[in-house]
Amino acid sequence: MKVSVIGASGRVGKAAAFCLAEENVVNELVLLSREDSLDKIEGEALDMYDAMAAKNIRISIKASSNMEDIQDSHIVVIAAGIPRKAGMSRSDISKPNAEIVADYSRAIAEHSPQSIILVITNPVDVMTYVALKSSGFDKSKVFGLGNHLDSLRLKNMLAKHFNIHVNEIHTRVIGEHGDHMVPLVSSTSIGGILIKNYSLYDTLDIESMIKKVINAGSYVINKKGSTEYGPAYAIANIITTIINDEKRLFTVSAYLDGEIEGVEDVCLGVPVKLGISGIERIIRIKMNENETKAFINAAEFVKKATDEIMSNLEYF
Ligand code: 2OP
Repeated sequence: MKVSVIGASGRVGKAAAFCLAEENVVNELVLLSREDSLDKIEGEALDMYDAMAAKNIRISIKASSNMEDIQDSHIVVIAAGIPRKAGMSRSDISKPNAEIVADYSRAIAEHSPQSIILVITNPVDVMTYVALKSSGFDKSKVFGLGNHLDSLRLKNMLAKHFNIHVNEIHTRVIGEHGDHMVPLVSSTSIGGILIKNYSLYDTLDIESMIKKVINAGSYVINKKGSTEYGPAYAIANIITTIINDEKRLFTVSAYLDGEIEGVEDVCLGVPVKLGISGIERIIRIKMNENETKAFINAAEFVKKATDEIMSNLEYF
């Protein structure tokens, strides 16, 4: 199984590539970057090989700046673009990143037309739409990493609050991978018990926890310059599920055609069933009144941002 990572010289891209190698589900990994970073990713590839020897993993890792090398990839990860810096919102980088994502998506359509595209570049909901339209791929083959990472962050915070193993927390964040994210508190459970029926529920200040999840990425960026391990392992979760055809439910940024609350022609974080061929089904969830309002609000915000970007983008 072959996976290519575009933007492998960046902190998220190289961390994701390393995690994928470590998962031992990929036998061919291509690290791609611009020409001026080729030396760096050649170093990354060699360094990863040393680690794989320690783990007794047999894998081919190739560094390249030539998009022809992505040929026959099952999945191509787009992690290229201008990363957010401290004080910047994800939307601040959308215009330059849209051009980059559009160019790479067209190149993927040319060199690896049968692959799945996983978009990481922010603002990921808008970039997923750009990749879908620029590649011309089916909507089941193009999706973005956003709310799966937010869901992991919420899981962590709830596990810490209740002092319970993170595995016992089942929760999900949908909507925008940004300020308009929507935590599905109404369907959150702890060890199979709905959170609102959990004895310590009233000790939880859910509003302040939601604010923490929204700002979690910025908080880490302010401290260490970028997030990397969180997104990297979230990407590995998604790619491992696809390659192993596990039929698990992940919240990814997906193109909506009315499946949830009639929202259409926008990419937004929703629960999907993932298998070897990509998105098998969008899960038509029911939400409470507040969650529904917040989801529609998120859709309006992201749709407006997407329309602005697409109107300035020459993508045909
Ligand atoms: C994050 O929230 C990279 O947007 C990603 O860490």
